[in-house]
Amino acid sequence: MKINVLTLFPEMFENFLQESMIGIAIREKAIDVKLINIRDFAHDKHHTTDDAPYGGGAGMVMKPEPLYEAILYAKQGRDIPVIYFTPQGKLLHQETVNEYSKLDEVILLCGHYKEIDQRIRDTLVTCEISIGDYVLSGGEIPAMVFIDAIARLQDGVLGNIDSALTDSHQNGLLGCPHYTRPPEFMGMKVPEVLISGNHKKIDEWRTEKALEITRRNRPDLLNDET
Ligand code: ADE
Repeated sequence: MKINVLTLFPEMFENFLQESMIGIAIREKAIDVKLINIRDFAHDKHHTTDDAPYGGGAGMVMKPEPLYEAILYAKQGRDIPVIYFTPQGKLLHQETVNEYSKLDEVILLCGHYKEIDQRIRDTLVTCEISIGDYVLSGGEIPAMVFIDAIARLQDGVLGNIDSALTDSHQNGLLGCPHYTRPPEFMGMKVPEVLISGNHKKIDEWRTEKALEITRRNRPDLLNDET
């Protein structure tokens, strides 16, 4: 999958793209990330990319011309989804991540300062995504969240695909508790059932715990709200 990132701060992505799962995904060629600096598409002598909002008020708005040119450059005449990260967007869910992870190519547009000029949203943006009900200073961290969530679902990235399918949210529930060696740590023992070797019982225990945690932390995920 090819991911084009349009940003004013490409350096923010550098370590992120080298480490851990994303580093593996890139080295294994499961994803290819191209960073495009929006500032390169500003033609005035100061490379201006933002300006004061019409109508007044605090904050700056990203100008349409450099964004327009940067998006056209990334698209190269092709029909590729352009995702803009904004707290006004639709909340990102695992289901959406699963869908997007199947695409061949996407363009991720990171705003900064207040917002981007609405005319770009009206004409070139195909989807607006929020990563939560809080405001960040820009779309770079949301874009990294999106890339991480997508990359780990690509073939060959996770050693064991089962571990993606049993994640929190893949079946509508939060995940269950996990334990590893030693069997006793500071007087706390690993639940007996997990070392019983009885896989039916283990599955039942995991489902019961997942339900318990979901009921406690995210009752909204359960239809019956119990
Ligand atoms: N940009 C600023 N805040 C954001 C959020 N919560 N989600 C996506 N993009 C954003």
